[in-house]
Amino acid sequence: MGGRRNGSAARRGRGGPVRTPAGVRRPGRGVRQCVRGRISGHPAREGQVVPKYEDAVPCQNYERRSAVFRPRIGIIGTGWWATRHHIPSLLASGQCDVAALADSDPQRLAVAAQHFGLAKTYATADEMFAGTELDGVIVAVPHCDHYPVVRTALVHDVHVLVEKPMTLLSVDAWDLVRLAGDRGLHLLVGFTYQYTKSARRCRDALQDGQIGDLMLVSGFYSSSAGIHYRGAAGAEGADAKYPLMKPQAATYRDPAVAGGGQGQTQLSHTAAMVSWATGQRPADVAAYMSDCDLPVDLVDAVSFRLESGAVGSVASTGSLPEGEVGHHELRYHGTAGHVIQNLRLGRVEVHRYGAGVEVIDAADEGAYPSQEPARTLVRLILGSGDNPAPGAAAAHATEFVEAAYRSRDLGRPVAITELDGQPQTTRQQDRS
Ligand SMILES: NC(=O)c1ccc[n+]([C@@H]2O[C@H](COP(=O)([O-])OP(=O)(O)OC[C@H]3O[C@@H](n4cnc5c(N)ncnc54)[C@H](O)[C@@H]3O)[C@@H](O)[C@H]2O)c1
Repeated sequence: MGGRRNGSAARRGRGGPVRTPAGVRRPGRGVRQCVRGRISGHPAREGQVVPKYEDAVPCQNYERRSAVFRPRIGIIGTGWWATRHHIPSLLASGQCDVAALADSDPQRLAVAAQHFGLAKTYATADEMFAGTELDGVIVAVPHCDHYPVVRTALVHDVHVLVEKPMTLLSVDAWDLVRLAGDRGLHLLVGFTYQYTKSARRCRDALQDGQIGDLMLVSGFYSSSAGIHYRGAAGAEGADAKYPLMKPQAATYRDPAVAGGGQGQTQLSHTAAMVSWATGQRPADVAAYMSDCDLPVDLVDAVSFRLESGAVGSVASTGSLPEGEVGHHELRYHGTAGHVIQNLRLGRVEVHRYGAGVEVIDAADEGAYPSQEPARTLVRLILGSGDNPAPGAAAAHATEFVEAAYRSRDLGRPVAITELDGQPQTTRQQDRS
C-alpha cells in the first residue's frame, strides 16, 4: 500500500511524495477491519458493522518509521485541557512538531500561540487543513463540535485524538469509527484512565476469563466537576489548576454545547472503561439524574444490562468542593472471582476464588496520566504501540450515555437498539 496524502495538500495540487520515510507503509482503504458483529433490529443501523476494538485500525501493518520522521500535529481547540496537557506533552516529548493551532476564539488562540511560541494559527479546522500539512490532530473543542471537527479531520486523512466524550450521538460515533477504519486512520479518545498499565491488567483479567463469566458491574465516580456546571471555576494563574486559561463557561454548563453535565463530562469515563475492559456493549440502560437547580445534571444513578446478560449499576456525582479528592472505582463480579479497579490509585486487585489475590499497583505511572493520550497518538503515527482508547469502545460509551439521558427524559429503561440519531435529549429539543 503506498503512502497517503494529506487531503488538503492533495487538493491544492502540491506535487511530490507524501512526507513519510522510505519504506513506510500506511494502512489504506484496502485493509479491512475485523468484524465483531452486525447490528440488527434497528432501522437506521441494520447491518452496521461493529468493529472489534483492537482491530478497528490495522496497526500491525505499520512498519517501523525512520528516526528522522517527526509527525506534524495540529491542535484544534486551544482551551484549558489542550494548553494544560496536550500541547506541553507534545512539546516535551521531542518526537513531533506542533505544526498549527486552531481555535474559533481569536483571543484564546493568540494566548496559546504566544505562550508556546507557535506561529501558525487558524480560526477553523478547515482553514488549518487548507494551510498546513498534518499527520495528526488533537481535537479538544466542546462536546457538540467533536463530531463535525473529527469528521473533517478524518476526511483530510489525518490521525485523530479526540477528547471525551467522543460524540453526543452514537450514530455519529459509529460514523467516525467507520470512516477511520475505511481510511486506515487511528482514532483515539481521551479517556485517560485507559492509558494505564493497571487498566490493561484489569481488561486482561476480565477478557481472559480469570474471574469466570461476568455477572455484575458496580461503579462509583465522584468529582468536583460541578464547579464547571455552576460556571464557578477558580482563578487562572501559574500555580493554579488553570495555569493559562480556564474553560469557557458554555463548554460544560450549556446543555446545547455540553449535551449534559455529569453524564457527559464524568460518567462517560466510567461507561467507556466498562465497555473497553469487559469488551461488551451495553444493551439496556435506565437512569435517574438530578440537576440540583443547575442547567445540567449533577448527580446520576444508572443501571444497565450488557449484551452478555451481565447487569450493573454506576453512580456519579460532581458535587465535591474544588480541591477535594474524588473516588473513581469499579468492581466486576464473575462466577469464579472478582476484580476491584481503583482508577484513581492505579490499583487493580484480581481475586480468584480459591486461588488468592493478585494486586497490580501502577501508582508509579501517575494517578491520571494526562500526558499519555497525546504521546500515544504520536507513537501510533510513528508505528509503535497500540491504541488503548479506540473509537469503537468509546462509541459504546456514547451509546450508554445517550441512552441514560433518554431514559431520564422518558422515565423508563431504554434499549440501545432504540437509539436512532435523534437529538439526544428532549430538553435539547426544547431549547433548539
Ligand atoms: N480527558 C480529560 O480528563 C478531560 C479533562 C478536561 C477536558 N476534557 C475535554 O476537553 C475538551 C475541551 O475542554 P476544555 O476544558 O479545554 O474547554 P475550553 O472551553 O477551555 O476549550 C475549548 C476551546 O475550543 C474552542 N472552540 C470551540 N468550538 C470550536 C471549533 N468548532 N473549532 C475550533 N475551536 C473551537 C473554544 O474557543 C475554546 O478555546 C472537552 O471535550 C472536554 O470534555 C477532557
